[in-house]
Amino acid sequence: MKRLLLIAVAVLAGFSIMTLLPERETYEPATDLREAMQERMTDMLRIHAALEDGRTPEPKPLTPFAGLPHSEHVDDVSEYQDFFVVFESMYDDIYTAEDPRQQFNMVMSSCIACHQNVCPGPLRSMNRLILPATLP
Ligand code: HEC
Repeated sequence: MKRLLLIAVAVLAGFSIMTLLPERETYEPATDLREAMQERMTDMLRIHAALEDGRTPEPKPLTPFAGLPHSEHVDDVSEYQDFFVVFESMYDDIYTAEDPRQQFNMVMSSCIACHQNVCPGPLRSMNRLILPATLP
């Protein structure tokens, strides 16, 4: 009987420790450019929602575009590699900028600028994300 009680206590303790442990999300990096772009679009929606609510968005793990293999829908992305690198630091600046809304719009405009040349498909959804100008 005593032993049964001990086991019950041990099991209960095990469960409570398990629920106390923070849930760990393991991040799976994107394996190609298309996947990384989709991930980025989702993240832009997340940041947009936060800024609209007056909240400060938190940085999240994302896969950088540079060096990723592209799909058969585009021919050659080698000429964009330098832009991808510059783009990444512009993106990170959203989290540290004095005016994150303005920085967000700058990033969105550069998504749009590249897409006007290379892949006009998502342009409509992108244009919708531009935030109204903020007063100084
Ligand atoms: C320097 C050029 C460049 C920039 C900047 C860029 N993209 Fe792209 N994007 C591409 C290319 C090239 C593809 C096609 C990728 C492929 O099919 O392999 C693409 C594809 C996409 C797709 C379509 C994926 C699919 O479902 O086929 C989305 C959505 C997208 N980009 C969103 C964004 C967003 C949001 C940003 C800015 C945060 C952005 N892109 C910035 C070049 C760019």
